Amino acid sequence: MMRAVRCLTYIFSLLIGVTARAEDLPLGQTLFQNLCVQCHAAKGEGNVLIKSPAIAGMPDWYVLAQMKNFQTDKRGAHPQDPEGQLMRAMAKMLTADQTLAVAEYVSKLPRNALQPTMVADIDEGKRLYAERCMECHRYNGEGDMAYPSPPVVGLQDWYLVSRLKKYQSGIQGAEKNDANGQKMVFSSIFIEDEKTLYSLVAYLMQLPEELKKAKGTAFGSD
Ligand code: HEC
Ligand code: HEC
Repeated sequence: MMRAVRCLTYIFSLLIGVTARAEDLPLGQTLFQNLCVQCHAAKGEGNVLIKSPAIAGMPDWYVLAQMKNFQTDKRGAHPQDPEGQLMRAMAKMLTADQTLAVAEYVSKLPRNALQPTMVADIDEGKRLYAERCMECHRYNGEGDMAYPSPPVVGLQDWYLVSRLKKYQSGIQGAEKNDANGQKMVFSSIFIEDEKTLYSLVAYLMQLPEELKKAKGTAFGSD
């Protein structure tokens, strides 16, 4: 009898585990629809009017890290960072479990196609990227958790410009305890002028297409 009870208790505990896991996705989805869509749009493609980035398909570790940065005032606390302030207020409403669930959900959304809004000559940007950025963000701009550097493709051009300018001026990334942000404050020094900045961003916007085309050739395959 005792054994059967123990056995049932065991099965019951497993079932609880299963339902808890099965609920992970719906929780992330519910949070996304109720809290994120109003600013990041229905498919997580972002919204230029709110200056919110495309977040669909961002790696879960990066979403989580940035949410924690917002929650601990590493990002979004600067008085000249209205967009960061908006997101920081949002992030602070979430518990640790909710943050984890929504980060996982966002990372599984398919990345959206983005329309470039600015035109620039990409040559200068391509050279600078190879010299100063590729080491951490990789040849394909997908980033690398080891650094931990996020993708620099799949983001809107105006958002890339905004982020890089904020790193350059220390509005983001300059907090004493933000070691990863500081890497970018340092790296963004090499973007010498606006022309180079726009060239770099234009290069990143077409990088995925360029690699897709190159895939057919002997040198371009992964
Ligand atoms: C009130 C509007 C608003 C809401 C609601 C909102 N966001 Fe944001 N979010 C923003 C803005 C604006 C930015 C850009 C901040 C900046 O420029 O640094 C941002 C930035 C982010 C970033 C940083 C991306 C990067 O490239 O570093 C992540 C991740 C993010 N949001 C996730 C979420 C998630 C997940 C939710 C829902 C739980 C959410 N946001 C809800 C406005 C919002
Ligand atoms: C030493 C490694 C390193 C180098 C070199 C580097 N980065 Fe970064 N980059 C990072 C890290 C780490 C982050 C995340 C910073 C954070 O958490 O705020 C980042 C973040 C970014 C972001 C923000 C992406 C987002 O989703 O908001 C952009 C844009 C970016 N880097 C572009 C560049 C460009 C352009 C260069 C070259 C001029 C460059 N990076 C060089 C490590 C690097």
